[in-house]
Amino acid sequence: MIRKLVANVSQLHYGGSITSDSPMQRRHLLALPALLAAPAIAQERVVNIYSARHYDTDRELWDAFTRQSGIRVRVIEANVDQLLERIRAEGANSPADILITVDIGRLARAKDGGVFQPTRNATLEARIPAHLRDPQGHWFGFTSRARVVMYDKARGLPAQLTRYEDLARAEFANGLLVRSSGYIYNIGWTASMLAADGLAATEAWARGIAQNLARPPSGGDRDQIRAMIAGQGRLAIANTYYLGLLHISPRAEERELAERVGVLFPNQGDRGTHMNVSGAGIIRNAPNRAAAEAFLEYMASPAAQALFAGSNMEYPVVADAQIHPFLRGLGSFRQDPISASDLAANMPEALRLMQRAGWR
Ligand SMILES: [Fe+2]
Repeated sequence: MIRKLVANVSQLHYGGSITSDSPMQRRHLLALPALLAAPAIAQERVVNIYSARHYDTDRELWDAFTRQSGIRVRVIEANVDQLLERIRAEGANSPADILITVDIGRLARAKDGGVFQPTRNATLEARIPAHLRDPQGHWFGFTSRARVVMYDKARGLPAQLTRYEDLARAEFANGLLVRSSGYIYNIGWTASMLAADGLAATEAWARGIAQNLARPPSGGDRDQIRAMIAGQGRLAIANTYYLGLLHISPRAEERELAERVGVLFPNQGDRGTHMNVSGAGIIRNAPNRAAAEAFLEYMASPAAQALFAGSNMEYPVVADAQIHPFLRGLGSFRQDPISASDLAANMPEALRLMQRAGWR
């Protein structure tokens, strides 16, 4: 029985194959719903997940849920834009019960687009901190990541650097490595600055960031870390999990690189460090609503949390789940408790001010 279920799960696993908008891959994507919509065995309990996250360990999670609940998990993996387009195109006939994706901005966009339905669930509300879920229950954060300042341990942390605000000071000219302003991680980060410091101060701050860049923004967070260790700049801005992924890399050079990087959790003396999430919500027309809710409750359990967070070196969102030893080694820290909805509301203004400030 279990072997059969697992076989079915892998049959419907499309991890990694749908990552671009090339015509061939789009045809492939369009072929998927027929599989999902195929008549299920009568009375079968199932939950259909559209996931923009894909890690090998996620499959372990789905299988454990099936063993525990008797509910079969069917998964389609693609990037979030493709999944949202699918859900829109399928409309009321969409087989999708749950959407899993990364970043408050994308979750908020899905909510605003009417993709989710509100869920009131006492277990989820008790276990997931309020700032890491949507106030109306359209989505729930299931892992969190901190956007931090990284430095070369050999050079040490610059004196008097404790806050994000400090990064705009003239002493860090030619010292900052950070990806482009248009990337959603930076928009969320700047949205948190906007909430804390207001428009005028945040725009001045963004101008300072743009002026202090060691090079025109290029690459992802890991590229900023590599460039910093290569001496191209004094400080790199990156999400914590990127350092964690270097730490557990199969490549010795990446593990060695990670050992050379120190982490500053900014703003510990005031609001705390900016956090973001990966999360999930129940689709508006979910055909298997009860199963979907059972799945979300399972995702908030300590064991599922440890596995789901650990696969991408993120922080669990519940207090009783194990944190990866590497992350524990970075130390505990104060998190900015700003609500996800406030953060999302600030994002359009944040992007505009970053562009006005000349942060490319
Ligand atoms: Fe990322």
